[in-house]
Amino acid sequence: MAQRGNWGSSIGFVLAAAGSAVGLGNLWKFPYITWVNGGGSFVLIYLICIGLVGIPILVAEVTIGRSAQLSTVPALAFHTRGRRFSRFWTGAGVIGVATGGVILGYYAVIAGWSISSFAQCMVWSTSGYQAPASDAFGQFAANGPLQLGLSLLFSLATALIVERGVHGGIERASRLMMPALFAILLTLAVVACTLDGAGKTFQFLFTIGPITWHGVLEALGHAFFTLSLGMGAMITYGSYMKPEESLLRAAFSIALLDTLVALLACVVLYSILFTFPTAEGAIGSPVGMLFIAMPQLFYTSIRGGAILAPIFFILVAFAALTSTISMLEVVVAFAVDKLKWTRRQATLVAATVIFVLTAGCALSMGASPALTQFSPFAGAHEGLFGKLNHVLLKDKTGLFNVLDHLVSNWCLPIGGLLITFFAGWLLDRRLQSEQWKLDQASLAYRGLRLILRYLAPISIGLVLYGVNQS
Ligand code: PHE
Repeated sequence: MAQRGNWGSSIGFVLAAAGSAVGLGNLWKFPYITWVNGGGSFVLIYLICIGLVGIPILVAEVTIGRSAQLSTVPALAFHTRGRRFSRFWTGAGVIGVATGGVILGYYAVIAGWSISSFAQCMVWSTSGYQAPASDAFGQFAANGPLQLGLSLLFSLATALIVERGVHGGIERASRLMMPALFAILLTLAVVACTLDGAGKTFQFLFTIGPITWHGVLEALGHAFFTLSLGMGAMITYGSYMKPEESLLRAAFSIALLDTLVALLACVVLYSILFTFPTAEGAIGSPVGMLFIAMPQLFYTSIRGGAILAPIFFILVAFAALTSTISMLEVVVAFAVDKLKWTRRQATLVAATVIFVLTAGCALSMGASPALTQFSPFAGAHEGLFGKLNHVLLKDKTGLFNVLDHLVSNWCLPIGGLLITFFAGWLLDRRLQSEQWKLDQASLAYRGLRLILRYLAPISIGLVLYGVNQS
């Protein structure tokens, strides 16, 4: 255990974990799903999910990791050694680690787009803006070699940082990138608030309307995705945290930063979209909102846009990179802790294997028809397969979309359910109260324990049940 990495300080952990949490989920996914789910009511449900389920499970994950000083799989094994079902928990941990690899597999594709958007903006900023043809993005997405190259670049950057270790690689990168990210986003938000569409934005974000079960599951799933929960990232990051630091304070700070970034991203994007209604056509997809509408608006309608546009995509790239390193770290830490590989070996093997999946996803954006139309249930609409297709996948097609839907709506909530059960029922009171630095008789301790044992698992269970019935 002596050679295990450690965060240099409490703020190092908070920045790295917030780096994991803040990502494309905040900038690309949240503004889009909030938009299609009608704004205010979705935001409200999302905030309830973060507070009631997200933060407690974040606490649970860090508790499991820090008290064992081991990454996901060995940490679960450590806490259940000698007990019944120990093997079940090891298996669950392995599935979590694999989920981390799968997320990285598809996430690296979109992350790669931040590089090309940045390069494109640099060209526009220096030699003048030229409006792209209406099918330009489709062609770009369907350009196989380009997609492979971009995602490879991003995967390489991720592997290089992870290979340098917890303190020298991940923490250093987060310390550099996270403050820059906050500064850029705040600047953009200030500019956005001066636009005419700002008023409409706040109205949209605070108006309550109807919501469906699928919407609730989406909010819950996204709460997991955005806080990097349900697959062991926070168990792994927590395992490098020193025992004397305040776990609860760190967990609150991480969730707060993540939520702020998501809401600010909505303010920036929606203000622009409401100000220039012609842009609303581009919001048929999350991709449209971030990668098509933004550059167009920066260059045609916003003062200083030529400077802001490339900076905006640096923000996207930083956010994505601090998240991809945490996904790879989950897999690498597993190989180091459990299989006893060296960090270098583990990084090389894990990154290579995951890149095979990335390549498949990169080609599922139009380059390969088979991967673009991929559906595990052959696109069935009737019978058992049709039902499964609808309930499990909401009829999604394409390798990328199928994986994203499965992971965020099913794997992460189920993983979260298991983790809250684990922390609530299998960790003993003394360990919990030591880790949380709370007296067992205190209200805070009892409240948190109650949430972990009953409230969080029951809420997740109810949502999963509701979706199956709808
Ligand atoms: N939280 C990241 C985001 O919002 C995604 C992520 C999920 C990172 C799971 C690590 C693990 O983009």
